[in-house]
Amino acid sequence: MKDKIREIEKSAVEEIALAADADMLEKARVKYLGRKGLITELFKNMGGVSSSERAEVGRLINSLKVTASKAFDDKASAISGGRDLKCQKVDITLPGIAREIGHLHPISRTIEEICGVFISLGFKVVEGPEIENEHYNFEALNIPLEHPSRDAFDTFYLADKWLLRSHTSPVQARFMEKNNPPFAIVIPGKVYRPDATDASHSFMFHQVEGLVVSDNIRFSDLKGALTLFARQMFGETTKMRFRPSFFPFTEPSAEVDISCILCSGESRSAGHDSRRCSLCGGKGWIEILGAGMVNPKVFKNVGYDPEKVTGFAFGMGVERIAILKYGITDIRMFFENDIRFLRQF
Ligand code: DAH
Repeated sequence: MKDKIREIEKSAVEEIALAADADMLEKARVKYLGRKGLITELFKNMGGVSSSERAEVGRLINSLKVTASKAFDDKASAISGGRDLKCQKVDITLPGIAREIGHLHPISRTIEEICGVFISLGFKVVEGPEIENEHYNFEALNIPLEHPSRDAFDTFYLADKWLLRSHTSPVQARFMEKNNPPFAIVIPGKVYRPDATDASHSFMFHQVEGLVVSDNIRFSDLKGALTLFARQMFGETTKMRFRPSFFPFTEPSAEVDISCILCSGESRSAGHDSRRCSLCGGKGWIEILGAGMVNPKVFKNVGYDPEKVTGFAFGMGVERIAILKYGITDIRMFFENDIRFLRQF
C-alpha cells in the first residue's frame, strides 16, 4: 500500500509538471483527485489495510492529497499567468453599466444661478439664522409691533420672542451691525410663513435677498443690477417694469415685473380669452421680486448715519423664479421628492 502511495505521488507530480495547458491539467486533476480518481480510490481501499498500519497509511494518503492539490493549484495559476482566467473574461461588446450620478435639487440649483449672477457683479454671499428674534425679523426693519404690514410677515413662534424668520431681510440688519459700508451682499435661505399649502403656497420656501450700501447708491443702480439679473436669468430680450409699492424697510419701494417669458407680452393685445397667455393671463408682465432704496430708519437702527450712506435692497422668492424658468405648475413638487420630478433637472 505504501509503495502504491509513493508511486501515485511520483506520477501525479510528473503529470502536473508536464501539463502544458489548462485542458491537460484538468485531465490530470480528474485522474488523481476526481471522484473516481486514483487518490480517492486509495481512501476507499483503506478497508484492506491492517489495523496496525491504518493510522500511518491514512496520514500518508492525506498528505499525498494535500501535496497534489497544492501542486494543481500552483500549476493552474502558473498557466493563467498568476490570474484567474474566469475573471479575465471581458466581453467588450457588452453595454456599459451606467453609474447614477446625483445632482443638485432644482431649488439649490436656482439659488446657485441667482447668486452666480450677483457674484459676477462683485456681490458676496452671506447667510443668517433661520431661528430669528422679533427684533431682527421686525423692529430693526422698521416693522413696529402694531404695524399692519406685520400680518403679512407673521410666522411660527417659538418660546419668548423667538420665531422662524418670515423673510431673509433680518440678515440685512445683522450684517450691517457688524460691517461697515461699502459692501454688496446676497443672502440666500429658507423662510417660513403659516400659509395653507396649495399649488402656489408653501409654509416654507426660499428667498434670495440683496443689499448694497455705499456713499452714493442711487435708484438707477438698483435698476441696472436687477435688469442685468433678469436678462441673465430669463434671456437677453427680457424687459423690466418697476411698479410703486410699499415695504417698511425701503423708501421708495417697488415691485418688479419682467415681460412674460411665455408670450413676451404678445397676448396683451389678444382680445379673446382663449388666446390669453396661461402664464401672465394676458397681462404681459409677471412679478418676480420686491425692491427699493434702504429706508433711512433702517440705517439708524443699525447705527449707520443716513446722511452719509445710501443703499438699495431687494428680495425674491426662489421657488417663484424656478417655477417661471422651468415651467413648473405646482410648488409642492419641489418638496415631495418624487424622483421622477427631480430627475428632470
Ligand atoms: N422681505 C420681503 C418679503 O419677504 C421681500 C423684500 C422686498 C425684500 C423688498 C427686500 C426689499 O429687501 O427691498 O416679502
